[in-house]
Amino acid sequence: MTQTGNPLFLDFCGLAFDSPLVLLSGCVGFGEEYTRVKGFSNRDVGAICLKGTTLEPRLGNKPHRVYETPMGMLNAIGLQNPGVDHVVGNILPELDFNETRFIANVSGSTVEEYHEVTRRFDDSPIDAIEINISCPNVKEGGVAFGNDPDMSARVVEACRRATEKPLITKLSPNQTDIGENARRCIEAGSDGFAVINTLMGMAIDIEKRQPVIGNNQGGLSGPAIKPVALLKVHQVYQVCKHHRIPIIGQGGVNSAEDAIEFLIAGASAVGVGTALFYDPLICRKLNDGIQTYLERHQIANVQALTGTLQLNNQPGC
Ligand SMILES: Cc1cc2nc3c(=O)[nH]c(=O)nc-3n(C[C@H](O)[C@H](O)[C@H](O)COP(=O)(O)O)c2cc1C
Repeated sequence: MTQTGNPLFLDFCGLAFDSPLVLLSGCVGFGEEYTRVKGFSNRDVGAICLKGTTLEPRLGNKPHRVYETPMGMLNAIGLQNPGVDHVVGNILPELDFNETRFIANVSGSTVEEYHEVTRRFDDSPIDAIEINISCPNVKEGGVAFGNDPDMSARVVEACRRATEKPLITKLSPNQTDIGENARRCIEAGSDGFAVINTLMGMAIDIEKRQPVIGNNQGGLSGPAIKPVALLKVHQVYQVCKHHRIPIIGQGGVNSAEDAIEFLIAGASAVGVGTALFYDPLICRKLNDGIQTYLERHQIANVQALTGTLQLNNQPGC
């Protein structure tokens, strides 16, 4: 890992990212899934977020778990995972930490569970911990915590007590004032944010008059959510810029232009999730496109682009 002469290099919560791209939780298994694809390399991205992990193993929701929608995808996987001890004991030792940074994604049904899972990851080589308080696909915890600033702060506080590793809080778009929630999470000890998780949605089979998704509702991801995600990143950045807290912007990134929009809106890094399902080799194209843009605009490096949005004058009404 070197930062010399690499315009895509950035420092994210003290971690060296060789690219602003981050592979998103739930879209890359536990960091090994895409390494089997010819031409794919973990070295093309700054970091990889592992699948959501809970204290005990979870089988996840009944099918259907995914459904394609116009310009997007609904999913309700239900946090299927083998449990934190298996991840720490069997999966992390197989990952090559020279290739990229690995970020755990922690979920729980209680504040205590978040604390305990974080504590077990603290005692592992993982580089950082993402707190998922925004999963729409589980009955307890998840978005129920993330939509309430008091509960969000309690979860962050509990995780903060369990680790000194960088803590990244993944915020829900399904709430009234995301900026206020971010402010409370910073007070509670969050070092960074992931903005946004999926939006809640539904698809209906009109012949059966039943929801298509086994869980009835699911999380909407992909290009359909990009405009919502950009506004939320902009709103969270208004709070974060005063504290030098970085954001991983995400939601529908599908091209270098999309990634650049997120950086301008205030993100320091940019997540790629759903796009990997139809183009597993997209990251190299995104890196090239971002670099070309920096050169064309004579911007020295990607960090200089973050938050450069110039708002229009307030339109009259
Ligand atoms: C199939 C699937 C599974 C996901 N699982 C998780 C998860 O376990 N934890 C989490 O924090 N986010 C999860 N997400 C949300 C993504 O990490 C990401 O925040 C969201 O999909 C928006 O980005 P995208 O539009 O680029 O996919 C999942 C998304 C998908 C599509």
